[in-house]
This record gives sequence, structure tokens and C-alpha cells, in this order.
Amino acid sequence: MSVKALLVPEKLPRHVAIIMDGNGRWARKRGNARVFGHRNGVKAVREVTEAAAELGMGYLTLYAFSTENWSRPKNEVDALMALLVSTIASETQTLMKNNVQLRSIGCLDSLPSKVKAELDTCIKQTANNTGLTLILALSYSSRWEITQGVKRLAEDVKNGRLEISAINDQVFSSYLETREVPDPELLIRTSGEFRISNFLLWQIAYAELYFSDILWPDFRKEHFYEALLDFQKRERRFGKTSDQLILKK
Ligand code: FPP
Repeated sequence: MSVKALLVPEKLPRHVAIIMDGNGRWARKRGNARVFGHRNGVKAVREVTEAAAELGMGYLTLYAFSTENWSRPKNEVDALMALLVSTIASETQTLMKNNVQLRSIGCLDSLPSKVKAELDTCIKQTANNTGLTLILALSYSSRWEITQGVKRLAEDVKNGRLEISAINDQVFSSYLETREVPDPELLIRTSGEFRISNFLLWQIAYAELYFSDILWPDFRKEHFYEALLDFQKRERRFGKTSDQLILKK
């Protein structure tokens, strides 16, 4: 029986976030430049997006480029930016066909104008799609996001638009890039690394973490289903005891 057939539709996470890792190692193992790994990573992006859309998932967030990634060699950064432009352009029709809406989070002003323009075009074109929302984290880091949010919040307090006593975690969430997006219930990281790497630190407070040994370019729908199945086997307690959860049933 395929892993997909074992999934319980009502118990699927609404939002899955993925740290796509291992492109460089995948390429090196084949004696190729790191960029070769990124190019082959696009197939995995396509696979998980299609799988998430087919399953009727609400949100899929992909960590495509971190704030820290700017310090990689210039040729790698340039190649990644060019890959983003060509992939977004070539995939827009597929997103339309699959009713997928594209969004992005991160410091988009720091992206090259070509990337920003392609991204804006695709976001506008897919804005009325009602299926999966695919969120690309680009030039994103959680500490950057939180710092930006704190600045905007402080500004609102200073201008009298927000009372200090009204600040709670929901209010703070509304100052983040992910406002209006439910927190991820499942975070997947590929390539056998056990780190969060400055990704959605606030939003993953209660997320289940899943680490896969697969290098990102090899990640396929079956691996995604395995992560979802693992998620469905977990008991999510949100600070309560197991007994309390049984009594609620
Ligand atoms: C991490 O692998 C991967 C990235 C920094 C980039 C991810 C980009 C893609 C999959 C391609 C384009 C994406 C989209 C959404 C169109 P790494 O380079 O850190 O690998 P390593 O840990 O083996 O060095």
C-alpha cells in the first residue's frame, strides 16, 4: 500500500514549512558545482508543491533563500537569483492550472530587481487562486522579521495607535510577515541536519519537527507523504497531559 493511501485527510496539517537543505552536497557527490544541486532542487519544489495542492493543504512555506545566504560566493548567489527568475517564470502557468496562489515573505527590497519583478508578476497573476498558498521565504530570516515587527509595533505605540496593555501574542503575530497565515503545524528539514537556521522561530512554537536524511534534490512526493504520516502518528498536547486529551475525545 502506498504511504499516501495511509494518510487520514482530516488529520493533515493546514500548513507545512520546509527547510530545503542539501543541494550543495548532492552536487558535490556527483562531482559538480553546487549550482547543479540548486537546479536539481527545482524538481523537488515542483513535487512537494503538487503533492500539497493535490492533498488540499492550505499553506506550504519553502525556505528558498535566507538572509545569511547573501554571504555565499557571488557566483552561487547570482546563479540562485537567475534560477528563481527562470523558475518563477516557467512555473506560473502550472501554478495557475493547479489553482495555487504564490506569496512571499522576507526582505524583498534586497532582491535584484529582476527577481522582484518576476515575483510580483506571478503573485499578481495567481492572487485570485483559491487552492494551496505557496509561500517563498526569500532573503528571509526570523530574527530580521521579528526585529522589523518590533520596530513597526513600537512605532504604533509611539503614535498612540496601539496601547501597551493590548499587546499579546496574537497582536504581535499581526506585525510579522506571516500575518493572516496560520502557524505551521509541521516543519520538515532535509539532508540530515538538525537545526532551525533562523526560520519561522516565532511561528513554530508548537510545530512538530521532522528531519529527513534525504538531500533536497532527491526529495519526492513519497518522502513528503512519509513526513505527513509521521506527523499524524504524533500526539500534539499543547502543554496538556495525555489524559486530558483522552478525556476530550
Ligand atoms: C540549501 O542547500 C538550499 C538553498 C539555499 C536554496 C534552495 C533553492 C532551490 C531548491 C532552488 C529554487 C527554489 C525555488 C523555490 C524556485 P545548500 O546549498 O545549503 O546545501 P548544502 O547544505 O549541501 O551545502
